[in-house]
Amino acid sequence: KEIVVSGIRPTGYLHLGNYFGAIRNYIRMQEEFNCYFFVADWHSLTTHPDPKDLPGNVMRVLAENIASGLDPEKVSLYVQSDIPEIAELYLLMNTLAYIGELEKVPTFKDKVRTQPQNVNAGLLTYPVLMSVDILIQRAVKVPVGKDQGQHLEMARDFAQRFNKRYGNLFPEPEAFNYGDNLIRIPSLTGEGKMSKSENEMATLYLADEDDQILKKVKKAKTDSGTGEPGAPMPESVSNLIDLMKLVSTEDVVKFYQEAWNNQTIRFGDMKNQLGEDMVKFIAPIREKAKDLQQNTDYLRKVIKAGAEKARANAAQTLQEARKLIGINYY
Ligand code: TYM
Repeated sequence: KEIVVSGIRPTGYLHLGNYFGAIRNYIRMQEEFNCYFFVADWHSLTTHPDPKDLPGNVMRVLAENIASGLDPEKVSLYVQSDIPEIAELYLLMNTLAYIGELEKVPTFKDKVRTQPQNVNAGLLTYPVLMSVDILIQRAVKVPVGKDQGQHLEMARDFAQRFNKRYGNLFPEPEAFNYGDNLIRIPSLTGEGKMSKSENEMATLYLADEDDQILKKVKKAKTDSGTGEPGAPMPESVSNLIDLMKLVSTEDVVKFYQEAWNNQTIRFGDMKNQLGEDMVKFIAPIREKAKDLQQNTDYLRKVIKAGAEKARANAAQTLQEARKLIGINYY
């Protein structure tokens, strides 16, 4: 079976972007592939989270993954910091990554703009650590959203560079989404994408209560509309149609697409419908995640078993990497 790796940072509440960009793929992939899914706690340290918050955030990400349908019996579900082999391979791989290329990465440049007071070396080498998460399990498929596409290109570059310098060890991993193109879920304001840390009103979280969901969808941006029949759909409207495609029936989607085309569309009705369908989608995940979060004993058991399997596989790769490099003295 092909090997799959993906991770999520424990930096806040999971949202629809995380679900449709990543988790939805995990759930299908667990039936077909040898899957390693993890919580990227080391990666989250680049933004200096409060140590008090970290354990709770990690447990919630785990609970939300399982509540969404991930089965810890089928996949290896673990926490990044439980695999020290990753840290060693990261040290080795850092010597093959060039400062110039790391400084050019768009996610790094964003951080330089948004957190200028904390441009730490961990941010610069973030793509190296992420590549190692993937390469250490020798994964070939990596289910992620569009924002991670560039990082995957770098993972392939680092794999190639290592293989060329020291000998063949790493397959080249590809970003993956069922349905081909990587997904980007837009924010409800139409500006930027949904994200864990940005504007709360613009993002639908898996932990949102029904009334919050309805309120956010109602406030979503729509253009005043009703121009010429057949007018091209503005982005604010096509964003909502795209969200509908994820949670509503085909008939509902078709109805509103046609209503736009002949300009009989009523945005109030459309948002009520979308809100209700969103509630139907999110509520069961939210309730299940709440229950699971109470059960920390179970979650700890899951990550312990997950780490055991992930570590065994990582240790083999690391051993081969050391040998190829010449760290082989006894
Ligand atoms: P993170 O924690 O920011 O996001 C987790 C996953 O959710 C996807 N995602 C989105 N997809 C579509 N639309 C959106 N609006 C949206 N927002 C987030 C992300 O693409 C991601 O798949 N660097 C990674 C974590 C990581 C990782 C890895 C991933 C660390 N090591 C190894 C894969 C393999 C990150 O920060 O994801």
